[in-house]
Amino acid sequence: MKKLKVAIVGCGRISVSYADAFRKLSDRVEPVYAVDRNFERAKSFANQFENCSPAIDISEIYGKGVDVVHLCLPHDLHAPVAVDAMRHGIHVLTEKPVALTLQDADEMIHVSEETGMKLGCIFQTRYNESVQKLKERYNRQEFGKVTTARSYLSWYRPDSYYDTSDWKGTWEHEGGGTLIDQAIHSIDRVRYIIGSDVLWIEGSIHNHAHPSRDIEDTAEACIQFKNGCCYNLYSCNYYGFDSPINIEFCGEKGRFGLIQDMGYTWFGDEYTEYHEVNKSESVGKNYWGTTHVMQLADFYDSVLNDRPVSVDGLEGRKTLEMVKGIYLSALTHRRIWLPFEDHKITKEEVRQLWNR
Ligand SMILES: NC(=O)c1ccc[n+]([C@@H]2O[C@H](COP(=O)([O-])OP(=O)(O)OC[C@H]3O[C@@H](n4cnc5c(N)ncnc54)[C@H](O)[C@@H]3O)[C@@H](O)[C@H]2O)c1
Repeated sequence: MKKLKVAIVGCGRISVSYADAFRKLSDRVEPVYAVDRNFERAKSFANQFENCSPAIDISEIYGKGVDVVHLCLPHDLHAPVAVDAMRHGIHVLTEKPVALTLQDADEMIHVSEETGMKLGCIFQTRYNESVQKLKERYNRQEFGKVTTARSYLSWYRPDSYYDTSDWKGTWEHEGGGTLIDQAIHSIDRVRYIIGSDVLWIEGSIHNHAHPSRDIEDTAEACIQFKNGCCYNLYSCNYYGFDSPINIEFCGEKGRFGLIQDMGYTWFGDEYTEYHEVNKSESVGKNYWGTTHVMQLADFYDSVLNDRPVSVDGLEGRKTLEMVKGIYLSALTHRRIWLPFEDHKITKEEVRQLWNR
């Protein structure tokens, strides 16, 4: 089998999940470059692999036979770096969110089509066994018509979490707070399982416990899917602990849901749990899960066999659209009907909301 030559750009916190995946998929990929503007980080990532060289800028890897680049960068860099890499003939799998604005996501999708380079967006929790099983049962309509869904996230991101980063906690580089960074995985899983486009979004954002930051630490929303399902969302990151994420769907014949990685169903009084049987040991943070390797394997397969990417740029855009719709609704105090005109949100715009 031809081995793909891959590079990682951004060797920060999440890069451990990539090092782990590269090792597990060594029959099909060879990491050849580790890029980080912090050269020590690039070196320490590269040193884990035999033929992997450190670099400080992505331009150093162009024209060197790299097939795929993984973007693990601050959110505002996803779009420009992805576009540049695709124009240099490299397939791109970017971390979530796909971009900071829908216009940027559109440009990425356009360049992917124009160049023939594949574009994917990481939403690894879709690949959890419990998610896959519940989606299959939902698609078989075992729960009847699903009328409502909810996701509830309460995590812990103290000031020190933001103090150690030059981009997190800023509208300019992260593009928001708990919604775009943490709740985005729950939003993606709900949309993926429900399998419908969105009709309208109403939401609000708050900053209750991070007075030194401009981003939101709390968000709530009501999202109406076109298929009739009404989704309510709550996310906050000032709880004292990373509590398991709770997602639930209510159907006419039964309820089903996820508590972190565990799936469950309720039919009347009958309760069943799904535990992941093939769960591997997690690397990095527990809540990142263990399925980056599965999404990377799926993306490599789409490159090697020239088939469509499962979680492509458009999928990334649809989930981003829900996030941005909540922000826009919060800023304008209006119900947002899709499609809508998006923009890069600034701290000045949001400060009025915090009333400070
Ligand atoms: N899928 C998940 O569960 C998950 C979990 C954590 C983070 N992430 C995502 O991964 C991405 C990175 O997050 P992180 O927590 O690893 O951030 P981080 O700050 O720890 O790492 C980012 C790295 O990028 C480097 N960098 C910044 N600008 C650069 C440039 N122009 N060229 C080269 N390197 C540059 C920085 O030096 C840093 O090492 C984000 O998109 C984040 O949302 C995803």
